[in-house]
Amino acid sequence: MLGSARDVSEFQETLAAVPDDDQFWKEVRAQFLMRPGLTHMNSATIGATPRPVVSAHTDLLWETESDPQNQVFGAPSQRMEGVRAKAAAFLGATLEETALTQNTTEGMNAVAQGIDLRPGDEILTTDHEHPGGSVCWEHVARRVGAEIVRIPMPAQVDSAAQVLDLVASYLTPKTRVCSFSHVSTITGLVMPLADISELTKARDVLLVCDGAQAPGMLDVDVRALRVDSYASSSHKWMLAPKGTGLLYIRKDVQDRIRPMFLESGFGAYTASSGTRSIATILAHGVAMDFHDAIGRAKVAARCSELRVRLRGHLDEMEGLTVLTPRDEALCGGILTISLDGGDYREVRRVLLEDHGFMLKNGKAEYNAIRISTHIFNNEDDVDRLAETLGGVLA
Ligand SMILES: Cc1ncc(COP(=O)(O)O)c(C=O)c1O
Repeated sequence: MLGSARDVSEFQETLAAVPDDDQFWKEVRAQFLMRPGLTHMNSATIGATPRPVVSAHTDLLWETESDPQNQVFGAPSQRMEGVRAKAAAFLGATLEETALTQNTTEGMNAVAQGIDLRPGDEILTTDHEHPGGSVCWEHVARRVGAEIVRIPMPAQVDSAAQVLDLVASYLTPKTRVCSFSHVSTITGLVMPLADISELTKARDVLLVCDGAQAPGMLDVDVRALRVDSYASSSHKWMLAPKGTGLLYIRKDVQDRIRPMFLESGFGAYTASSGTRSIATILAHGVAMDFHDAIGRAKVAARCSELRVRLRGHLDEMEGLTVLTPRDEALCGGILTISLDGGDYREVRRVLLEDHGFMLKNGKAEYNAIRISTHIFNNEDDVDRLAETLGGVLA
């Protein structure tokens, strides 16, 4: 029966039995708990957690509360290490490079505070970063007297070469750190990190990445991206319980990035990390199982497929411009539009209150609205949104 899977193995069995792709995505969609009438297209802000993960999370809460001390400090806490191992595999990292956090902001703060910066050192970033990946640098820069240099990003990026030229032109002998989002929260641009790493490695500059918008939307491989650190949130595209995240620090730079909370090692529970919610962390592991049951590459392809379909409609529409790059290598499941007229907040409000589409107010300067396409969305959501938006703009 559609949507009845209580755990991931049942879900997997259901998927194995579907006759075609159409039924496959219907089964996936049926695992989500959104109320009728709500079309959630804002995974970039907060994801939706599917039934098998919610069930596991609530069961685990009951289990841990049945014997609080033995559960939290005894053998069950070792199960968290299994989640860390899954997380390492999910990012393409090793266990000794992967830590569990509560969100991207925590990971970015830990990285920024863990680097020994000096007065006059430069931190190169962009003016399109989210506060979760930029406030940390403001704090550190103020404390040590370092400088933040922000690359003014174009609203529309045409090519990876354009980004590379920009980054290269802002690097100076004083640059110690480059800090970029993997996927822009503003335009959905996927930064060409592997290419950027050619520039940073040659200058011995640390390449720090805010990956809040990527794992679970793209098939992330930190090794291939050649970044030095990578912080992400699992409660967005990874569909994990709220308050879960991942942090990767490349082995070879662990003497240069030394977060305080990792002083006693990368383990899920250490003297320097303190007590964690076992139930939440184990459910985070189930969310990764859920992705694997579908296939990470298949998830990424589906997010993009729906975004491409939406773009096809919106490119034909008058009264707006799509800001997300046209180059497929530079985008994933986010599409940002800039409205020619009207007020983006008002349009977004009408789309939510009158039509049930949950979208995100974009950057005010661009009069923008951001749309996320995830695996629980479908062709009908995309077609209805385009049609409704056309009507609202008209
Ligand atoms: C690029 C980016 N970085 C960081 C964050 C902050 O995420 P969290 O609140 O999960 O730490 C967000 C949230 O939208 C984001 O888009």
